[in-house]
Amino acid sequence: MDRWESQRRELWDVCAEMYRRGLVGAYSGNASLRLEGAGKEGLLLVTPTHRPYYRLKPEDLVVVNLEGEPAEDSLVPSSETALHLEIYRQRGDVAAVVHTHSVYASVAAVAGLEIPPIIDEMVISIGGSVRISDYAFPGTEELARAACRALGDRNAALLRHHGVVGVGPSIWEALEVCDLVERVAKIFVLAQSFGPGGANRLPPDIIDIEQQLFQMQRRASRGL
Ligand code: 13P
Repeated sequence: MDRWESQRRELWDVCAEMYRRGLVGAYSGNASLRLEGAGKEGLLLVTPTHRPYYRLKPEDLVVVNLEGEPAEDSLVPSSETALHLEIYRQRGDVAAVVHTHSVYASVAAVAGLEIPPIIDEMVISIGGSVRISDYAFPGTEELARAACRALGDRNAALLRHHGVVGVGPSIWEALEVCDLVERVAKIFVLAQSFGPGGANRLPPDIIDIEQQLFQMQRRASRGL
């Protein structure tokens, strides 16, 4: 039996779900999780590159070390492995990363617009606005650094001209963050169609309270 069988199954289920929800095309996006109990050197489980979700099998998922080197005899890991690794390096609270190419979020990413805090749920679950990264070529260390700058201590960011990255203390939570970004992006784009003043920010005092709730949840998920 494969030591990581249940984690393979969980990541595979999430991949199927993000494809089913239309957050990615068959060949786009990727996802990973930290393999807890892998020892202090650390290991990740990550999707393979260029494998359509409708053909993906749990055994296709790739175990990589923290240098991004795959275990022997595995498929080639995602071309965005550097992005995943950089997030895990910078964010001890993150146990899973999901990268999607959903349509409305990509509209904002193409227009160069961060999504302001317009819905209560997004401040509580994401930490505030969904910031947008500087542009960087896919698969590069530069993209990994730009994404981490935009992410800061939040749970999601837009990748300029590219898509979304969402993080969380579990792979299902990282998926739900990406799903929330897509719904909020849709609300933002539609509200903006009413013209100036269409997409109104929440009141500042409410944003403050909701950001405190977000920070409390982060501390609780780290057991602090
Ligand atoms: P991979 O198939 O290499 O994960 O690439 C998909 C993608 O969306 C790159 O940003």
